[in-house]
Amino acid sequence: MREIDPSDPILSPPLRIGHGFDLHRLEPGHKLIIGGLDIPHDRGCVAHSDGDVLLHCVTDAVLGALCLEDIGQLFPDNDPKWKGQASDLFMNEAMRLCDEMGYRVSNLDATIIAQRPKLSPHKETIRDNVAKLLKVDRRLVNIKAKTHEKVDSLGENRSIGCHCVVLLVKK
Ligand code: CDP
Ligand code: ZN
Repeated sequence: MREIDPSDPILSPPLRIGHGFDLHRLEPGHKLIIGGLDIPHDRGCVAHSDGDVLLHCVTDAVLGALCLEDIGQLFPDNDPKWKGQASDLFMNEAMRLCDEMGYRVSNLDATIIAQRPKLSPHKETIRDNVAKLLKVDRRLVNIKAKTHEKVDSLGENRSIGCHCVVLLVKK
């Protein structure tokens, strides 16, 4: 499904915006991987892959900006091939498609929702990892963290969520 025609300015606009959202259940006995970083915590994401909520969210935003199928369609979670898969593979495939379709990342803004652990000590490392995967300067990547004010599954440390937007520009 490729709907970009580089010869048609309407179908190949100078800018494309993409939105991503992801959420994972948190349970003891699992690793907590965020932005490729293994973060010490008493619980982690239940997932078919490594459960990297941020990289899944960013991958979906890039794919969304390109009007492509989403991460779950490209990498079905019932396919044993992706069991325990490190999520940088999903990001790399989204970025390969982005490049192939004639776009590069302008900037990204993401918000991770986690009651615990405190993410601020890890933010700069996560930022570097995401910038590397998006092939942009770290100053074009923003990573924020929020609690969920102790309400609902996010606030009760039973899940972790992420929202992001990405802007793509024509190369
Ligand atoms: O004060 P406000 O309700 O806007 O935010 P909060 O959810 O209470 O979080 C306060 C600050 O803590 C955030 O702005 C983040 O910088 C930081 N934070 C964090 O480092 N790790 C989290 N898991 C949640 C929040
Ligand atoms: Zn996910």
